[in-house]
Amino acid sequence: MTMKKAAALAFVAVFAGVAIQATVAQAATAVIKSDFESGADGWGGRGNPDALETVAVSGEEKHGGAASLKVSDRKTTWHGPVRVLGDELKSGAVYDVSAWIKYVDGPAVASFTASAEFDGKSGSRAYRNLSSANVPKGEWTKIEAVLTVPDDKDLDKILVYFETRYKADNQITPDDTVDFYLDDVLVVKRTKVIAIQEDLPSLREVLAGKFDLGTAVSPELLDAYNPHRRLITKHFGALVAGNAMKPDALQPKEGEFTFAAADKIADFGEKTGMRVRGHTLVWHNQIPAWFFTDPEDPTKPASKAQLLAREEKHIKTVVEHFQGRVESWDVVNEVIDDTGKLRDDAGGSKWLGIAGKEYIEKAFIWAHEADPKAQLVINDYNLESNPAKRQATYELVKELLAKKIPVHAVGLQMHISINYPRIEEIRKTIELFASLGVKVLVTEMDVSIYESESAPYMAPSTDILLAQADRYRDLFAVFKEAAAKGVLDIVVLWGSADDDTWLDDFPVAGRKNAPLLFDRDLQAKPAYWAIADL
Ligand code: XIL
Repeated sequence: MTMKKAAALAFVAVFAGVAIQATVAQAATAVIKSDFESGADGWGGRGNPDALETVAVSGEEKHGGAASLKVSDRKTTWHGPVRVLGDELKSGAVYDVSAWIKYVDGPAVASFTASAEFDGKSGSRAYRNLSSANVPKGEWTKIEAVLTVPDDKDLDKILVYFETRYKADNQITPDDTVDFYLDDVLVVKRTKVIAIQEDLPSLREVLAGKFDLGTAVSPELLDAYNPHRRLITKHFGALVAGNAMKPDALQPKEGEFTFAAADKIADFGEKTGMRVRGHTLVWHNQIPAWFFTDPEDPTKPASKAQLLAREEKHIKTVVEHFQGRVESWDVVNEVIDDTGKLRDDAGGSKWLGIAGKEYIEKAFIWAHEADPKAQLVINDYNLESNPAKRQATYELVKELLAKKIPVHAVGLQMHISINYPRIEEIRKTIELFASLGVKVLVTEMDVSIYESESAPYMAPSTDILLAQADRYRDLFAVFKEAAAKGVLDIVVLWGSADDDTWLDDFPVAGRKNAPLLFDRDLQAKPAYWAIADL
């Protein structure tokens, strides 16, 4: 064991006592327990009356007992079994959802999702994907998810349902609408009270005068009941929306802007004196299909003029809306592919093919016109680990600057892992971009405990957590250096605690990860101590 590890372990031992006091466990109560041995137990189909899938108890397959619930005649990915969650809907109540799924005909593997629908008294409908699991053909597979009741006075009813991975109706193949069986569904209301450790040093204070530490959030984490809210205000000095400011969230239909969820984050930042970053204006993911199609005939692509006009309107409306509340924007996200070329159709982006490289330049110009004070950032992943991509991004920024395009900073996403890339590569990357005279930001950092995509699920052992702490310590030392040189003034983590990380489902659906500073119960991990100790 290294000295560093021994020191971190000592901290863990000292503070374990605090962690235990902070969480009070009581018995949990099951609110749904459906084994389908004596009927459908309130489960039905989600489809509209005119396209109803068939949901019925069947003896063909069973996880336990003699029957399961069979769903057939599905026409779309969201057709599947649904049931109202009983019980009172206390805001902040947490439910653990689990179920077994199997299908016998179809692709070798299919991805299933456990989701929730929130119905408002006013008629509103909101949907949340809770978690997904890869189900191999012919094998009963467990899917597990956590459902938290939002803080919403209008809330009338919550429904729990299961579906296959979303695809637009015009892209559906028979693989997306396989018949499937559901069994042994369990929804348990958690009665464990999660409280944060109030007596820990605040990271916000520890890092004061060096750089600000930020975190990605979803709006419900900021609800008054939610313990994340306290964790975030105690330790973090900056916020970014994990999803709520992406094009599909802000302009789902052409011309219809929906700002409520994103406003909640921006307002919270303003109220609490946290810096707020905007993510992201232009991206090839999480952008509605209408951007790229002909308004007269959606089977045809948009023209260059149409796409650029939509780009301008989106950027200007959004940046103006958040002016004064959002200080920095990821203007373009992931525009270079992994081979170092501008991302084109083969790389999943329709921007380049329709509009040419101009869409990148125009994005910065329009954002600058909308808010001349905002910091404008080009953001990407693997810049530290992929030399071709790094060099191409360097050349692109250099070229934009030569053309006097207002690019102010390079954002390093830094979705990295415990052993990769080397610290030296990270330092070199920061220095390379700084040499262009732009700032460098760390925009989405998390430190996966896995060495590769093929590594199987593991519960994080003490050794792993200590290695992760070493890694965070080394990374923060590099950031401190860059901050001292005036190159970097913010490091944003893609989440705050391990109960809320996109890496639980990426790049492997259902493989739980533990990449952040606090654990699933919001208690400090060794990685926290590595930073608190800086
Ligand atoms: C992720 C979100 O965290 C997920 O909730 C969502 O399902 C997919 O997108 N790079 C980015 C972020 O720029 O926008 C991505 O966020 C993570 C990778």
